[in-house]
Amino acid sequence: MNSQKQTVQQLLHSSLKQIDKLDAELLISHVTHKSREFLIAHPEYKVGKLESWKVFKLIKKRAKGIPLAYLIGHKEFFELDFMVNKYTLVPRPDTETMVELVLERLMTYDLGHKTVLIDVGTGSGCIPISITKTVKTRFIASQNIDIVATDISKQALRIAKKNAKKHNVEINFLHGNLLEPIIKSSELRTLTHGASVFPENSELIITANLPYLTEEQFETEPSIQHEPKSTLVADKKGLALYEKLLQQFANLPICQFTCFLEIDPGQTTHIKKIIRHTLPDYSITISKDLAGLDRIVTIQK
Ligand SMILES: C[S@@+](CC[C@H](N)C(=O)[O-])C[C@H]1O[C@@H](n2cnc3c(N)ncnc32)[C@H](O)[C@@H]1O
Repeated sequence: MNSQKQTVQQLLHSSLKQIDKLDAELLISHVTHKSREFLIAHPEYKVGKLESWKVFKLIKKRAKGIPLAYLIGHKEFFELDFMVNKYTLVPRPDTETMVELVLERLMTYDLGHKTVLIDVGTGSGCIPISITKTVKTRFIASQNIDIVATDISKQALRIAKKNAKKHNVEINFLHGNLLEPIIKSSELRTLTHGASVFPENSELIITANLPYLTEEQFETEPSIQHEPKSTLVADKKGLALYEKLLQQFANLPICQFTCFLEIDPGQTTHIKKIIRHTLPDYSITISKDLAGLDRIVTIQK
C-alpha cells in the first residue's frame, strides 16, 4: 500500500501502464468526489492518503478486468445515469437502439392512446426507465403508458427499483420467469387495482434484452468474465429464452402486440425461423445497431 498523499498527476502516472487514462480519471473522480473536469484542470491537486490508497485499490481491480461501472457503481445509458452492481448487466450502447425504436413506435400513437409496456429481463431497469423518462420529458402524446418489468433475479430487481425511484418513474416490478408473473391471473388483477392490465384498445409493447450468448462466446470473451453468466448466456445456441418467451405470448390475454428483442448479429436467420414457427401471422423486421450489425428484431402483426 502506498500511504503517501498523491497529486492527481502522480496517480494518473502510476495508473497508466495498467488502465486507460479515462478510466483512471473516472476512478479518481469517484473517490475524491471531484469532477473529471476539475481533475484535468488541476493536476497538482493533492489527494489525501486514504483516498490515494482507495484509488490504487480500484486501479488494481480495474486492471484485473472488473468493469469500471461496477467499481464506481453506475453507468450512463440513453443519457441517464443508472446504478449497477455485480447482479446486473452493465447497460450497453447497443441496447439504446431498442429504446429508440420503441420511442419511434410510441410517437405514431394518437394523443392519450393507452399503451402497456412490458420489459422482460429488466436488469438495471435501463430500458423501461429510459423509455418512460423520455416519454415524460419529450413527448406530449402517448403519455398514457403503464409499465411492467420482470426479472428472474431478485437482486437485479432491487437495483431496478432504486433506479426507477431515482428517475421518478412508476413501474410495476415483478419477480419471475419471463412473462409468467404477468400471465398469472392473480397478478393481472393486482397490477392495476382490480382492472385488467390490458384494457380494450390498448397497445401492448414487449421489450426483451435477455441472455443470448452461447457458452462458447462467453468463455472466449475476456471483457465479460466479471458480469453474471446468468445475465448473458442461454442454451440452444443462445436462443432458448427467446424461444420460451415467444411460446408464452400465446398465453397473454391479448392477441396483438409489438415485440422488440435484442440479439447477437449471428442469430438473425435462426431467430427468424423460430418466430415464423411460433407466430406465423407476424411480420419480422431486423434493425442494425450503431456498428451496422443486426441487433434488434421487431415482431408485429
Ligand atoms: C442481458 S441482461 C439485460 C438486462 C437489461 N435489460 C439491459 O438491457 O441492460 C438479461 C437479464 O435477464 C434476466 N433473466 C435471465 N433469465 C430470465 C428469465 N428466465 N426470466 C426473467 N428474466 C431473466 C437476467 O437476470 C438479466 O437481468
